[in-house]
Amino acid sequence: MFQNNIMSTRPFIIANWKMNLLPDEASQAMNSLVACQKRYSKGLERYSLIVCPSHESISRCNNVLGKKSSPIALGGQDCFWHDKGAFTGEISPISLERLGCTYCILGHSERREILGETDAMIQKKVAHLCAATSLTPIVCVGESRKERNSGRVRSVLKRQLRSALSHVPRRRHVVVAYEPIWAIGARHPITPKECAVALAYIHEQCQGLGIPRMYRAVVYGGSVTHDTVLSFLTKGVSDGVLVGGASSKSAEFHSLLRTIAKIV
Ligand code: PGA
Repeated sequence: MFQNNIMSTRPFIIANWKMNLLPDEASQAMNSLVACQKRYSKGLERYSLIVCPSHESISRCNNVLGKKSSPIALGGQDCFWHDKGAFTGEISPISLERLGCTYCILGHSERREILGETDAMIQKKVAHLCAATSLTPIVCVGESRKERNSGRVRSVLKRQLRSALSHVPRRRHVVVAYEPIWAIGARHPITPKECAVALAYIHEQCQGLGIPRMYRAVVYGGSVTHDTVLSFLTKGVSDGVLVGGASSKSAEFHSLLRTIAKIV
């Protein structure tokens, strides 16, 4: 779906459904999302809408979207660094592609924190995904509250980005999601001003790593709702948003979509 320039595409609205919906609930949510997208299609045409259901729901969601090209793209929430083999419980990047995904979230903080994913593991996942598939990685980075309070935001972002993006081939599109851990599932997101500072630093790092502007998008994630979404999309603060909790509640997500569809 990308042209040569990732930025010639539209701002990203990425829905991370996490493990919030069972397969029948996910296909129901996808059905109503398709209806919502049709209803506000004129306004929503200006965005790239990506939904990342849990793995066991991808196939059903893809069936809802149908074979023809849909304005809603699918993404995985994680995948392994091999395509096949004796890796019990892991997810093949090739299978994601065959199931209809065009994106995949990698390095989400919940995986880093709860499942012990390390920078080295995320590096292998990003490298393999880029080498073996045409999926676009959505690489999550972000600091904890403790790291922020001790003035380590830049050093944490630098370490995570250098590791995750060091084997991205030339001319490969990458989406980086800045998700400060303390702002995920919280009451309030980061302020747009603080967000802009962190995103500018991420852009600087990506540039230094040889990922030119036309091949990268940097989005914000963490407690984005219909009330706050515009503050991250307007005035060029970010190239889009990654929405977690609010995206798996249909009423809330549709109201977010209605909000962004209506801005001129
Ligand atoms: P949240 O999650 O929107 O619920 O804060 C974002 C994420 O974890 O991707």
